[in-house]
Amino acid sequence: MAKASPSFVCQNCGAAFNRWQGKCESCGEWNTLVEEAGDSAVPVSIRAKRRGRPFKLESLAGKSVDAPRLPSGMAELDRVTGGGFVRGSVLLVGGDPGIGKSTLLTQATSLMARSGHRAVYISGEEAVAQVRLRAERLGLASAPVELAAETSVEDIIATLSEGATPRLIVIDSIQTMWTDTVESAPGTVTQVRASAQALIRFAKKSGAAIILVGHVTKDGQIAGPRVVEHMVDAVLSFEGEGSQQFRILRAVKNRFGPTDEIGVFEMTGLGLREVANPSELFLSERDLGSPGTAVFAGIEGTRPVLVELQALVAPTTLGTPRRAVVGWDSARLSMVLAVLEAHCGVKLSGYDVYFNVAGGLRINEPAADLAAAAALVSSLANSPLPTDAVYFGEISLSGAVRPVAQTAARLKEAAKLGFARAILPETARGDAPSDAGMALQTVGGLTSLVADIAARGTPRPAGRDTASSEKNATPARFRRQEG
Ligand code: TYD
Ligand code: MG
Repeated sequence: MAKASPSFVCQNCGAAFNRWQGKCESCGEWNTLVEEAGDSAVPVSIRAKRRGRPFKLESLAGKSVDAPRLPSGMAELDRVTGGGFVRGSVLLVGGDPGIGKSTLLTQATSLMARSGHRAVYISGEEAVAQVRLRAERLGLASAPVELAAETSVEDIIATLSEGATPRLIVIDSIQTMWTDTVESAPGTVTQVRASAQALIRFAKKSGAAIILVGHVTKDGQIAGPRVVEHMVDAVLSFEGEGSQQFRILRAVKNRFGPTDEIGVFEMTGLGLREVANPSELFLSERDLGSPGTAVFAGIEGTRPVLVELQALVAPTTLGTPRRAVVGWDSARLSMVLAVLEAHCGVKLSGYDVYFNVAGGLRINEPAADLAAAAALVSSLANSPLPTDAVYFGEISLSGAVRPVAQTAARLKEAAKLGFARAILPETARGDAPSDAGMALQTVGGLTSLVADIAARGTPRPAGRDTASSEKNATPARFRRQEG
């Protein structure tokens, strides 16, 4: 009988090779190949004997019950999933260790159980006593959640197949699960994939909704089971800066709902608290009147979110100036800096640039360009921006300020939070409601914005360093180059 050839599987991306090598050719990672026994414990010769079983084909027009959803009772979680857990679906929740995945799911299962649904929480990482302890701290100990500390997928499925089908099953975490059908060690790609496959099959067959918890590596990938991302119906990522209380739940993939919605939570002593109005939270500790901050009126999914962008532009001591970005795309920052340099005569090559989005939010919208540019120029010119103004607009490579979607929603949110004026693209004025309740100041190009901020550059408060404040007040750096 032919001996099965060994298989070396990359623990990062799941690619398989028939010999060991230092670098995975598929994803480029080093030292990630581990020898694993193949997926198939059943020899090919036996499997080949099994005859295919004919199945019934359906028509497209057929009547199907539309994805029946069960809301979790946590509005922020439901917003991200698209309205609740879909029967028979599998959801992967990823996030850094300690970010609060177990807390979130303990709260979700408890709420489900309290509203009369069978909810099961299987922990492969913590003992039952530890899970109980957390529930006690959260004040949820009385919820009729069914609890177990188990790691064998076969045992879990056998147990859950008895009695009424659970409505929600949490598996915390998929990396700790193992199945008899493959020989690899728990945590390897092959084990994780096989375990996930078995659980997904169970979910589809039984109609239970399953949530798999997955750990994330330092570069933001869901460790090992990147392959799992393709198998599940939805992937949610739970993010946040360790030092901050805010946690953001974001859909990375969703077969049954939107992928641009965010759910905002605050970690408190009593677990995660939902934040219904994130703008208030992100603006709660604003540094009023200091240069380098601009308020961006953004849209996350269907919800407008106001957030403070912070920039610090400081003379560099390095050959290559530093560009450090948190919460925004560094390529986008480079682009805005290049446009400022090329079209507005703002010389930044001698300056380090630090950029931060307050509150731990991550912004993906191009509409943030204008606010980012305003913050950068404000810091460079030492010229605080008006504290009652919001900014939004996309900047094109030519230096023009382009319109963005949902002007009305952005203005409404800003007005609600007490802002009195908006700096927005010229072409967006048409979309603005006449009763916006705000002064609208349009900008056609970045040059006029820069000139405006530079002109307002106020000297630093007297008594500190008058010489340097004078230098700042006459911004030679802003002189437009002739030609
Ligand atoms: P946990 O849910 O165990 O994180 P994960 O499952 O993602 O690894 O949460 C761990 C952190 O949350 C821990 O540092 C303590 C903090 N925490 C609170 O601040 N308040 C609480 O009520 C709970 C339960 C946890
Ligand atoms: Mg955990």
